[in-house]
Amino acid sequence: MKNKYKVAVVGCGSIANAHLEGYKKLSKVEVKAVVDTNLSAREMYMKEYQIPNGYENLESMLSETNPDIVSICVWHKLHDVMTEKVANYPSVKGIICEKPMAIGLGNAEKMIEVCKKNNVKLIISHQRRFTPGWMKAKDIIQSGLIGVPTRGEIRVKDGLLNWGTHSIDGVRYVLGEPEAKWVFGALQRSTNKFERDTAIEDCCMGLVQFEGNLQFFIQSDLLDNNCDAGRFNVIGTNGMIYIEETKVKLFNEHSNGWKDIKLNLDKDDKAIGGNTNALQANELIEWIEKDKESRSSARIAIKTQEIMMAIYESARKNMIVKLPLREKKYPLDLMIGENKLHLFDEKKYDIREFLNRDNIDENIYSKLKQKGFGHNEIMQKLNLNK
Ligand SMILES: NC(=O)c1ccc[n+]([C@@H]2O[C@H](COP(=O)([O-])OP(=O)(O)OC[C@H]3O[C@@H](n4cnc5c(N)ncnc54)[C@H](O)[C@@H]3O)[C@@H](O)[C@H]2O)c1
Repeated sequence: MKNKYKVAVVGCGSIANAHLEGYKKLSKVEVKAVVDTNLSAREMYMKEYQIPNGYENLESMLSETNPDIVSICVWHKLHDVMTEKVANYPSVKGIICEKPMAIGLGNAEKMIEVCKKNNVKLIISHQRRFTPGWMKAKDIIQSGLIGVPTRGEIRVKDGLLNWGTHSIDGVRYVLGEPEAKWVFGALQRSTNKFERDTAIEDCCMGLVQFEGNLQFFIQSDLLDNNCDAGRFNVIGTNGMIYIEETKVKLFNEHSNGWKDIKLNLDKDDKAIGGNTNALQANELIEWIEKDKESRSSARIAIKTQEIMMAIYESARKNMIVKLPLREKKYPLDLMIGENKLHLFDEKKYDIREFLNRDNIDENIYSKLKQKGFGHNEIMQKLNLNK
């Protein structure tokens, strides 16, 4: 058991704040370094979180810091690349990599292999598994208060990989990790849409069949209202439950209509950051020390990845796809390459392009930050108003 774990965070954009909020709450942790290709981004984090070292690249950080734990908070396509480099570095014992796990199932499998080979514990940051609402809902469902679960209803937006990964993973969590048997999916991509540099669909939907009578119905970017990464319904043979990170409502024969479930919330209980990321990081440390697998382990997270890839593959093949999924590449990219999708508008756009910090006015950034605006809000103001 170590006195203090040396931590480094790679990527100083929006989500790294959540990781640092979490680490700050753990006495066993010392954040020693941050990495970002953008100087202003890393200097801002060093100042705000009193982190002694900042690096422009991962390799220098690894060799000079020798971290025990690394948070990977860069865009999706770098998740597998960086996980491989970090896991191969001898000092590293644990990694928290952001979602979505990877682009394509094969890249996600490689992340697991390289971590296994090096005895590195890998968590994928589906951090909402540590929120009071989701944990309470899991207990309620497992104690039989909605009967036998038959349906998970998921409604998200901003790309299946982006938000869908959280809620598909969430329904799997509250239902005790059921095994998916087959997936039927459909999608539309008539504009040249990307999200954090990854091709995504305009909209899609998927039906997932699990063991027994359980199904999930997933719709992404179809209805804009009342959807969120952390919010979903589960219906059972004797009732139903509405689940958010900090809110749960139950409906069954004894509830007298919808009943709010008491959660005893703390001010730092939230969907992203605070207690949520602290609990996740703490579970990684317990996994390192006691070999007790985390609920967010890559072995568990890859099942969500497989379901999402199977939705795309089903749309690509126009067929029900039985799991395990055989296609290892990113089926949406394959569809694009095979000219299966007709674009009405060829112009490429990225719904998260506003996060690009390369050409912003850093003075205005600092002023807006002092006024209390959050990172994403500032980036939107600076990039969308150009
Ligand atoms: N778990 C969640 O709830 C949640 C929420 C938001 C984002 N995310 C995920 O976090 C990841 C990052 O998203 P974000 O919104 O923080 O992005 P961001 O653009 O705000 O931050 C990314 C940072 O990485 C830096 N970077 C880029 N290339 C780099 C490299 N080679 N080495 C070091 N730094 C590099 C950029 O300069 C930028 O500062 C994404 O994969 C996203 O899906 C997760």
